[in-house]
Amino acid sequence: MTKAARPAKKPAPATQAPKQASRPRVAAATKSSGPVLLTPETLPAPVMAGRDFLSNLDMSAQELRAVLDTAHSMRRGEWRGVRPLSGLSLALVFEKASLRTRTTFDVGMYQLGGHAITLSNQEIGLGTRERVSDVARNLERWVDGVMGRVYLQQTLVELAEHASVPVVNGLSDMLHPAQLLADYQTIEQEYGQDLAGRRVVYIGDGNNLANSHIHMGILTGTDVTVVTPVGYEPNAGVLMDAVKAGVNVTLTNDLAAVEGADVLYTDVWISMGQEAEADIRRRAFRGYQVTPGMLDTIAPGGIFLHCLPAHYGEETVPEATEHPKSRVFDQAENRLHAQKALLYHLMGAMKPRW
Ligand code: CP
Ligand code: NVA
Repeated sequence: MTKAARPAKKPAPATQAPKQASRPRVAAATKSSGPVLLTPETLPAPVMAGRDFLSNLDMSAQELRAVLDTAHSMRRGEWRGVRPLSGLSLALVFEKASLRTRTTFDVGMYQLGGHAITLSNQEIGLGTRERVSDVARNLERWVDGVMGRVYLQQTLVELAEHASVPVVNGLSDMLHPAQLLADYQTIEQEYGQDLAGRRVVYIGDGNNLANSHIHMGILTGTDVTVVTPVGYEPNAGVLMDAVKAGVNVTLTNDLAAVEGADVLYTDVWISMGQEAEADIRRRAFRGYQVTPGMLDTIAPGGIFLHCLPAHYGEETVPEATEHPKSRVFDQAENRLHAQKALLYHLMGAMKPRW
């Protein structure tokens, strides 16, 4: 079926503070005035109904704005009273490990009234037990969307080509666009919506995260610098995306480029699937570690982000993720809000088929 043919797509001891009190998301949403709750009548219109999300460039700047506005509103607790994905299901397909992506897509579907089913590659054997196209053509008959965490971006392209329902990139070797939605929600919490010219400095491996940062620079006008050792630069096709968009991206191996950054971002040096190169990579990236000393050199109001998981002792140290400039755990929380927002805008116009 083509996409077009498918219908719109125990009580705490007295001495111990209650655990919820330390959770800003809940605390913020329960202030005396409380959030203004949305109703089915006041929901925003889904802006990417029935579409795929394989790259941040699959959305326009206006669509990104709508998704982030929804994410902020969800974080404020304004969606508590609505279940816009009631009766809809999302398949979560994993070729690789995950904590955040798996949990937030699953909990996100539940909170929106829908349902998620997790399929490990051990179970379904994408491209080995069965052709990718056949997996897509089966899943589309049962579920209303597919999230894939895969090695090859091409696997997602193929799933999207053959599934009539939205396909969402939950990370490939090339891109991690869902992560970047949460990252920019976190950046907006710090700096507001006008991010044009804000210096975002990514340091480390020119990997899927670096690539998606370049895409977000194209969409938002942030001034993106990628600091890598020679030979570990971002993907050439992604750099070409920036050239085509007329957007300047600074590539350097000079660590001084970190100075004055509004946002300093890092990710692991050894991504999933690169374990055989671990020793070579640890040697190549020596010196590129984000430490509290490096955080002292970014802008006084600057922030430190990391998509996590962190490989402490390699790209960063616990003293950096616990530093006053770190927002890494708010960023992790925002995976939930930003992905719920994305799912709403992709699937919110669909009606249950059963
Ligand atoms: N940041 C991120 O995608 O985390 P997981 O690999 O745990 O999903
Ligand atoms: N670059 C890392 C990101 C993990 C969320 C990886 O691909 O393993």
